[in-house]
Amino acid sequence: MKVVTLPDAAAIATAAADVVCACLASHPRVAIGLPTGRTPVALYAELVRRHRDEGVSFRGMIPVQLDELVGVPLDDARSFRAFLRRELLDHVDVAEACEVGFDGALDLAILGIGLNGHIAFNEPGSEATSRIRVVALEASTRDELRAAFAPAEAPREALTVGIADLLDSRRVVLLATGAHKASIVARALGGAVEASCPASFLQLHLGVTVLLDASAASGLGSLA
Ligand code: PGA
Repeated sequence: MKVVTLPDAAAIATAAADVVCACLASHPRVAIGLPTGRTPVALYAELVRRHRDEGVSFRGMIPVQLDELVGVPLDDARSFRAFLRRELLDHVDVAEACEVGFDGALDLAILGIGLNGHIAFNEPGSEATSRIRVVALEASTRDELRAAFAPAEAPREALTVGIADLLDSRRVVLLATGAHKASIVARALGGAVEASCPASFLQLHLGVTVLLDASAASGLGSLA
């Protein structure tokens, strides 16, 4: 696992976009796992800019959505599909349909990390052998969704690719910014490899690059 600390979210977006562009250039068709959340927004903006200003083509990208809320129609603005369209897919020359999951190994998985250690929607308790499935969302995860949903409407379940699907990916880039992520980042990178912190399973993968800002990296110095 390679851990890189960068000055700010813009530098992380640039570094992550470099990885995506290298992946796109590596093969005519590449399956890239795309996350939702606040963290990847700057990366997607940078990729849209490179497409517009530098002619980077996404025609060879198989866009793989890592997770989706159950019970939210794909054309609802709050669906993760709508998010990916809005932030990236509608603005680049992607030719392939976007689906949740992929029948094969991803070439690249881009990941954020939840405050409870989830990656995609693999909530605590998710095992290393888990595959694409529907999971129950933790109360804390549902609380985060309540900004967009009325209290009774916050989805209770999500479809997510599994930990094994992510570990099968040829390459993984994990992004985290902000002091609120410091303790879970420290646990995921330096704590026990266990299902109570699903992101810790990334320690088992040799091709992981972790891109952090100084705040998100601030707990790493205290590792034993
Ligand atoms: P965030 O979410 O990017 O909005 O912090 C990350 C996650 O929950 O996976």
